[in-house]
Amino acid sequence: MGAINLKMLLESQSLERAPFPVPVGWYFIDYSENLKPGELRNIFVFGQEWVLFRSESGKPGVTDPYCPHLGAHMGHGGKVCGEHLRCPFHHWEYDTEGNCKAIPYAKVMPPITKKGPILRALPTVEKYGMIWSWYHPACEEPSFELPYVPEIEDATGYTGSRRGSWSANTCIQEIAENGVDVAHLKFLHNAPIIPPVEATYNGPTMRINIGQGYIVGDSYGPGLNVMRFTQKDPVTGKAITATMLSYTVPVSHDKSQMNMSFRHVDFPAGTPELAFTKKQIDHMIGAAEGEESAGFESVDFIVWNNKRYRPNPLLCDGDGPIFPFRKWFKQFYVEKPKLDDASA
Ligand code: FES
Ligand SMILES: [Fe+2]
Repeated sequence: MGAINLKMLLESQSLERAPFPVPVGWYFIDYSENLKPGELRNIFVFGQEWVLFRSESGKPGVTDPYCPHLGAHMGHGGKVCGEHLRCPFHHWEYDTEGNCKAIPYAKVMPPITKKGPILRALPTVEKYGMIWSWYHPACEEPSFELPYVPEIEDATGYTGSRRGSWSANTCIQEIAENGVDVAHLKFLHNAPIIPPVEATYNGPTMRINIGQGYIVGDSYGPGLNVMRFTQKDPVTGKAITATMLSYTVPVSHDKSQMNMSFRHVDFPAGTPELAFTKKQIDHMIGAAEGEESAGFESVDFIVWNNKRYRPNPLLCDGDGPIFPFRKWFKQFYVEKPKLDDASA
C-alpha cells in the first residue's frame, strides 16, 4: 500500500453542498400572464420572501414584504391601490421602486421619504413575456442588460409553447457547471462521444460551443441561458435549429428552480421539418422515445441533489474547462454589506 494521503481521503467530510451566497443577476420571477393588474402575492426567492404585485396601469413590482413604518407584512392584507402597494396596517403607500408616496394621516412626510426609496424594491422588467428582477445583495443597480432574443421577441416566423419547470436541491452554479462538463455527457447521458467544447467569456456573458456548433449556448449572468441546438434533418438534409431558453432561479443559496421554454421556426403542420424539430426538443429534455442518450430530466437531478461541491476537484485531461468556468462565475458573488446601527 502507498502513502496515506489524508487530505485526499478525508476531505469530503468538510465539503459543503452549496458553499455560495445567491449570485448577482437578472432572474425570472414569473410569466407575465400569471400576474394581472391589481394582483399581489407573496413569493420566496433569493432566500427570502418578497411581495410581487402589478399596479393598475400594469407595472410589476417586487419588494421586501416588511413595511418600513412598523414592520407589517404587506403580503398579508396589503393591497394594490392605483400605482402603489398599500400596507394594511396604517395605509402607507409605496411605488414599484420602493418610494413612499403617501401617508394618509401625516401632515408632513418624513424628509427621508423625499430622498429616495425607503423600501427595498428589486429592479424589475418584463421581457420575453416574463417578469425579471435584478438581485444584488447590496441593492446595486443592474450592471448588464438582458439580451434581445429573436426567437421569443420577434414572434414572426417562430413558435413554441412548450415550457417546463423543475426543482433542484443545489445551487445555480452547480447546475450551470454541467454546460462545460462535456465528459458527463458521454457517461451520465450516454452520448456516443465526448464532444469537443469551446468556451469564451466576456464580462457577464459566456458562450459555450459543444460539438462544433451542435449546441451553442449563451449565458447572460447566472439567470439566463439561450441554447441553440442545430442538427441535420435526415429526411430533408437541412440544418435545423431549435432553441431552449433556460432560466434558473435561486430559491435560496442551496435550492434552485430550473425553468425552460422551447422555441423553433414555425414550419407548416405535417412537414418533416416540424416533426424533426419536435423530436429535437424532446431530445433536449430527455423525453425522446427510443433514444440512447438521456436528457437532464432523468439523470442530472440524481447527481445534483446529492453531490457536494469540491473546491479543489481532481481533474484529468479529458475534462471540460471547469476551472475557467468557475473563475467566470465568481464575478457574481458579492458579500452582503455590514450595516452600522443608525439608531445608536
Ligand atoms: S406598518 Fe405599514 S403602514 Fe404602518
Ligand atoms: Fe447533464
